[in-house]
Amino acid sequence: MAFQYSSELPSAAGIDTIQFKQPSNFRKPVYDFDKNPVTKDGFLLGKALFYDPLLSVDKTVACGNCHQASAAFANLGSALSRGIKNCKGTRNAPPLFNLAWQKEFMWDGRINNHEAVPVNALTNPCEMGNTMSNVLYTLQNHAGYPAEFKKVFGSDKITQEMVLKAIAQFTVMMVSANSKYDKYIRHEAGGAFTENEQAGYALFRQKCEACHTEPLFTDLSYRNNGLEETSIDIGRDSMTHQRADRGKFRVPSLRNIEITSPYMHDGRFYSLKEVLQHYNSGMKNHANLDPVFRQDGKVGIALSPTEQTQIIAFLKTLTDVDFINDRRFNNH
Ligand code: HEC
Ligand code: HEC
Repeated sequence: MAFQYSSELPSAAGIDTIQFKQPSNFRKPVYDFDKNPVTKDGFLLGKALFYDPLLSVDKTVACGNCHQASAAFANLGSALSRGIKNCKGTRNAPPLFNLAWQKEFMWDGRINNHEAVPVNALTNPCEMGNTMSNVLYTLQNHAGYPAEFKKVFGSDKITQEMVLKAIAQFTVMMVSANSKYDKYIRHEAGGAFTENEQAGYALFRQKCEACHTEPLFTDLSYRNNGLEETSIDIGRDSMTHQRADRGKFRVPSLRNIEITSPYMHDGRFYSLKEVLQHYNSGMKNHANLDPVFRQDGKVGIALSPTEQTQIIAFLKTLTDVDFINDRRFNNH
């Protein structure tokens, strides 16, 4: 059941303070908090909007339908996301966390402003199918929302900027930095690696780190990892119009990867084993295949079955149970 907004804000139960915390093993975030200071009321309003299907044209689809807390806000088990009237999209819904460190959004990086991201989902005919003016009309004429907007922004005349800022106060707070890996790095209790995890980490640093760079587990660049010889989805090319960008997609973070299946921009792989088999032996020689994958006259990254198992053991240390269970972000 999607969360139904009420002026009682049931989601506030058990939430004391809302404050952005800088993990000690991360650099400073790039999000400008001065322009949109996060407050408890603003965060809770953003949360109410995030889980409210009222924002879609037929009032059936909320942000939380495609971005589910239990999947680190990816779309559990769904390769391509589904919007209103069961419309099938063209890309896999990415997980949402550590967005405060991102300057560009979407698989192709076409949006460069955190607050602007939801406009796409709200107005995309295959996602929430609405218009911004209708979203504002619906909220303005709702029994509870105008008073909540007034609390946060000092006015009950709801504007697009207010809606987007409120949602951003919720999404920018999603920080995932408390996995076993983080505890290992910070020398905290619960951070002791097993032999397999340790071996997997060493292999990861040799073979994956160039793109899935710590501590975000992405260098935020756009690359091609040889999923096909000719791209069906042209990726970054659709925004830069450069042939050299054809078939390139943002390197995704590998944090919480254990629970964000299926994988890749089109959700083609359901297990980490399949992903590693792809890197080992399934890679296609795309014209824009990243040079990292063209070494020793072969394409791909050679990984023995043992090495694959070890890397997977390490990847599972990136699961952040505290984040997934954090009631500030859950709608129940
Ligand atoms: C119908 C499913 C669907 C709904 C509903 C939806 N999203 Fe998404 N979301 C996606 C998909 C798919 C992408 C990736 C699109 C792309 O790369 O072209 C995405 C991307 C994003 C991103 C970018 C993440 C990144 O790392 O670049 C954010 C942030 C986001 N959505 C937030 C929201 C918010 C807020 C809402 C509600 C207003 C919402 N989404 C509603 C499917 C959905
Ligand atoms: C040259 C850069 C590069 C290297 C090296 C690399 N990857 Fe990737 N990886 C990518 C890109 C780009 C994608 C997204 C491709 C797409 O969806 O089109 C990706 C996607 C993934 C995904 C899917 C993530 C998701 O959320 O869908 C996993 C898992 C993954 N890589 C694991 C690894 C592992 C493990 C290694 C080391 C064995 C590795 N990668 C090495 C660039 C790289």
